Order: sequence, then structure tokens, then C-alpha cells
Amino acid sequence: MPIWLRALAAQIIALIPALAAMQFAGPPGWPWTFVLLQSLAAAMAAPLLGLPRWWIPIQAAFLPALAVLLRLQLPPVIYLAGFVLLWLVFRSNTRERVPLYLSNRATWEALDQFVEDYASPSFLDLGSGLGGTLRHLAQRHPGGRFNGVESAPLPFLISRLRLLRLDNAHVRLGDLWREDLGRFNLVYAFLSPEPMPALWRKALAEMREGALFVSNSFAVPDTAPTQVLTLNDKRGTRLFIYRMGASATQAAPRFQNK
Ligand SMILES: C[S@@+](CC[C@H](N)C(=O)[O-])C[C@H]1O[C@@H](n2cnc3c(N)ncnc32)[C@H](O)[C@@H]1O
Repeated sequence: MPIWLRALAAQIIALIPALAAMQFAGPPGWPWTFVLLQSLAAAMAAPLLGLPRWWIPIQAAFLPALAVLLRLQLPPVIYLAGFVLLWLVFRSNTRERVPLYLSNRATWEALDQFVEDYASPSFLDLGSGLGGTLRHLAQRHPGGRFNGVESAPLPFLISRLRLLRLDNAHVRLGDLWREDLGRFNLVYAFLSPEPMPALWRKALAEMREGALFVSNSFAVPDTAPTQVLTLNDKRGTRLFIYRMGASATQAAPRFQNK
């Protein structure tokens, strides 16, 4: 069952115990008691329906947030604006389950070292978000070429503005699946588990021998990386590194696991 259907099911199922409890309680103030009971039941139903843990607070907050918003009686245009804003930022989320979260400085610095290994680096950020990774690398390595592709309009626009002054960095609005990975010697992805199998097939088909495919946090299933680099940051970021054409057990020479 798709995740959105399970989320909806949790909300609907949670109405049953809340309604049943209301048979005994009743007024005064019953709408809020009902909302609280439904919220509690939805939070408990989420793991039972196999939703990941981060869905629990979302499930719990849904009906209370709805009740508060209805009470505020906001003009409908606000909801429309909210919807449009969410679409502009999270456009790819529903299709590929890839929300917007950003690589941190520790990751940028680790990528620096990989870039330095190439005489003329050509780097592609698949889903380049707000362009922070590209901007950092382009500033540090003026001799390299740093490209990004981003499908969400607002992050694309922000990154375009951030990269305006850099001749060696470029981001385009589009779909990562339409990029030719063969044009780059470093391909970086910070996506989600969902697209990894298909992305790996694409990398194998298109990337040149010796090129590096680096995935932040999400490993390619059933494929041993050339190396796993664990960064010394708060979240213990792991970079899964795959060197094209190398045997799975061969370690990339310059880096040690921390
Ligand atoms: C987790 S963010 C990573 C942002 C950036 N790479 C970074 O490391 O800071 C993933 C980005 O991929 C974008 N994205 C998801 N699917 C995409 C697709 N099919 N084509 C292009 N961009 C996509 C999302 O909009 C989001 O901005």
C-alpha cells in the first residue's frame, strides 16, 4: 500500500476509538476532547500500519492543526498560497520521496578532496537543492566545472541566483533522469533510498571508467561500495563511494574511514 494511503488510513482508523470514547464522554467541550483522542489514536496507528517513525508526530498533529486552522477562519487564498509554496519547494517529494535537505560543510569538504584528485574535474550534483554544494566547490576549484540539476522551481531559482557570479558553476531546471552522467568524472547524489537502484543502473550504463559516484547517506542496495567514508560531523554522515570499473573490494586510494 502506498505511504500516503497508509497515512490516510491511520487518520480514518483513529476516528473509530475517538468516536467510541465520545459516546461515553459527551459535552461540554467535546470537540477538543475528540480531537485529542483522535490525535493520540492516529499516532498509535502509524507504526502499526508500517509508517516510518517520523510519521508519528505528523499523524498526531494533523487533526489538531486542522481544527486550529478552521477556528482561525483564514481566507482561502492563504491555503492556496501555502499549497503553491509547498509545490514550488517539494515538487519531487511525492514522486521520488526526495525532500529538500542540504549537505553540510563537512560533506562539502570531503567532496573537495575527491575533486582535487582530478586534473580537470567535472562534477554533477543530482538534485542540487539550494546550490550550496555547487557554490562551495566552484569557489574552491576555479579550474573545475560544476553542474547541478534541480526539479523544484523555488530551490532552482535560489541556486541560480547564488551561482550568478560563478563562471564555472551552472544549474538547470529539470529532471535528473535526463542528465547524461557520462559527461562527468564525479557524480554526487543526496536523495533517498527510493531512486537508488534505478540511479545505479543509470550510472553503470553511462559513467566512464575511473569516474566516481558518491551517494550521501543512501547506499546502492546489494552493491558493495568501493569505500564508505564516515564524516566527523554531528549526524555522522556517511558517504558511499563507488568507483566505476573498479572491483567492489578495491579501496579508493587517498581516503581512510574515520
Ligand atoms: C536532499 S536534497 C539535496 C540537495 C543538494 N544536493 C545538497 O546536497 O545540498 C535533494 C534534492 O533533489 C531534488 N530532486 C528530487 N528528485 C529530482 C529529480 N528527479 N530531478 C531533479 N531534482 C530532483 C529535490 O527537489 C531536492 O532539492
